[in-house]
Amino acid sequence: MVLHDYTYTNTILKKYPREQRHLLAILQDIQRHYNYLPRKSLDMVRDYLDIPLSKLYSMATFYRALSLKPKGEYVIKVCDGTACHIKSSQSIIDEIRKVLNIDSGETTGDGKFSLETVNCLGSCAASPVMVINDKFYGKVIPSMVGGILSEYGGPEN
Ligand code: FES
Repeated sequence: MVLHDYTYTNTILKKYPREQRHLLAILQDIQRHYNYLPRKSLDMVRDYLDIPLSKLYSMATFYRALSLKPKGEYVIKVCDGTACHIKSSQSIIDEIRKVLNIDSGETTGDGKFSLETVNCLGSCAASPVMVINDKFYGKVIPSMVGGILSEYGGPEN
């Protein structure tokens, strides 16, 4: 993840003609690169497409995949869809909260981990499930959480 190197925003903008219909694709590219939408990048998009910042903000808040807040290096998504909920996904969330000291929607002070609860990830047979960046974990029980997080440099408890 590259933070505070806004020059890459220019590289993204250059890929697209100055037309509003490319706005979502541009924001998705920025999100993918920085893991969130930095304010400076939004200013650059505003200038490039000549559209009001308010329009960028409304799009950024409408699409769940876009985030205005910086996310951690590792984004932990715990499924809380029906099947996972029945299989006690809440106890997984509680354990992560205990180990990392963050609530859902928050990021650790060192910027390493973010925690999110999400709807069905489409793998109900393996419930409860969680995903860290692109790595999938199924049939998770609370006692596994500390070990999994330590793979990413989390504190072992
Ligand atoms: S409800 Fe969690 S994967 Fe479907």
